Amino acid sequence: CQDGLKICCIGAGYVGGPTMSVIALKCPEITVNIVDISEPRIAAWNSDNLPIYEPGLDKVVKACRGRNLFFTTQVDQCIKEADIIFVAVNTPTKKVGIGAGRAADLTYWELAARRIAQVAETPKIVVEKSTVPIKTAEAISAVLHGAGKTQFSVLSNPEFLAEGTAIEDLDAPDRVLIGSTLCEEGSKASQTLADVYAHWVPREKILQTNVWSSELSKLVANSFLAQRVSSINAVSAICEASGADVDEVARAVGMDTRIGPKFMKASVGFGGSCFQKDILNLVYLCESMGLPEVAHYFHQVVQMNDLQKERFVSRIIHGLFNTITGKKIALLGFAFKKDTGDTRESAAIEICRRFIEEKAQIAIYDPKVEEEQIWSDLTGACQMDKIEVQKYVTLCPDAITACDNAHAMAVVTEWDEFKDINYNKVFEKMIKPSFVFDGRNVLDHELLRKIGFIVYAIGKPLDPKLSTA
Ligand code: NAI
Repeated sequence: CQDGLKICCIGAGYVGGPTMSVIALKCPEITVNIVDISEPRIAAWNSDNLPIYEPGLDKVVKACRGRNLFFTTQVDQCIKEADIIFVAVNTPTKKVGIGAGRAADLTYWELAARRIAQVAETPKIVVEKSTVPIKTAEAISAVLHGAGKTQFSVLSNPEFLAEGTAIEDLDAPDRVLIGSTLCEEGSKASQTLADVYAHWVPREKILQTNVWSSELSKLVANSFLAQRVSSINAVSAICEASGADVDEVARAVGMDTRIGPKFMKASVGFGGSCFQKDILNLVYLCESMGLPEVAHYFHQVVQMNDLQKERFVSRIIHGLFNTITGKKIALLGFAFKKDTGDTRESAAIEICRRFIEEKAQIAIYDPKVEEEQIWSDLTGACQMDKIEVQKYVTLCPDAITACDNAHAMAVVTEWDEFKDINYNKVFEKMIKPSFVFDGRNVLDHELLRKIGFIVYAIGKPLDPKLSTA
């Protein structure tokens, strides 16, 4: 029992919010304070309208908030009181300076560490929850101990949750990974953290390793996952050129137990805040360790992903008789995947940027993404102001409105509700010939063809109508 233990988490984002809420739920005797420098974000966590959409999160937060779970901007006080401090701040790709475009930007991490060093008065366990390059724990330890005020044990505890299924993943993780230094202090700290997870995670799923293995494992896990997506997407290109069907190939290949069926869905390309950033981070690490061939190997995963997005756009342009200038395209979905409102690195952003470059008209509908987020993503990607972007883009309240008078409909996010749209009605509203480009292979293509649509799907044989034309 860890009665009276106090946890502070710095960073109330997609990782800090859900992970700490689940710890609070599973460990009622532990007090969990989640702090952030963003006042609006904390206010939202304390309201009925949480700042992130994640299935099941509302229920968990409501069960614990005000009991043993608190959201606050009182960073210093919570640091002072805590026994364990998780740091779950953002670690984006560096935009400027050495390693720009590849290395992780650890500015927020370092600021958080300096703050801890400045205000902590009693020994603390500091936990890397953010995804960081190998050896970060060492650097952070130097920053923490630089102030010379108290003792810190730095642990690595990367988070493997996936957005959209975060609560399920946290409730029943495949594993929990805790890396520590090999000294006695390190093992003791690792044990304290393992005991927190052991409230609900079976002991055999809690892996305790050295700190570098733990840091590296997170980068490798994301690189392998992204590599699988790029591999099946590369296969989809071969399918489109040859008449094979990517889903049939994926099924046949995935039934080999050495390969397995998961993460075998061809798509318009992966997005999200992590995959690209973490691979680039690994690429940068490889380069700085004098391993250019290894760096090149992993870098291909990102290049294949960029190609997949561009292939999707080119197929639309070619399908629409080699021009989309002035044509209206309904874009269904803007989030990087279903069941999240997160748009970071979403394929939709690059696809829209390319459509705007071609001077197409885009009508966007997404069930969860906030309008302001879409404007901010598109103004950033196109380097235009909002008024300029609005010459090309309109935001719609539903899919049918988006499709009104459209030449084509493109599915970019695999939201379940897109399967249940009344496609007869959509067909009536669209300009003829009416095209569907299914970037997620989620729609019933046979039905759509019966209705009269010309359907293009990722890695699928060309529309039979076209091959007989
Ligand atoms: P996020 O951007 O949603 O949240 C980070 C939060 O930290 C923000 O609210 C920001 O205001 C706050 N923050 C930054 N500096 C601060 C400081 N000095 N003091 C207090 N608060 C501060 O980021 P997200 O998505 O939660 O990611 C966090 C880390 O977790 C990243 O390293 C990411 O790579 C990693 N990760 C993310 C996953 C995801 O699905 N989003 C999954 C697994 C790991």
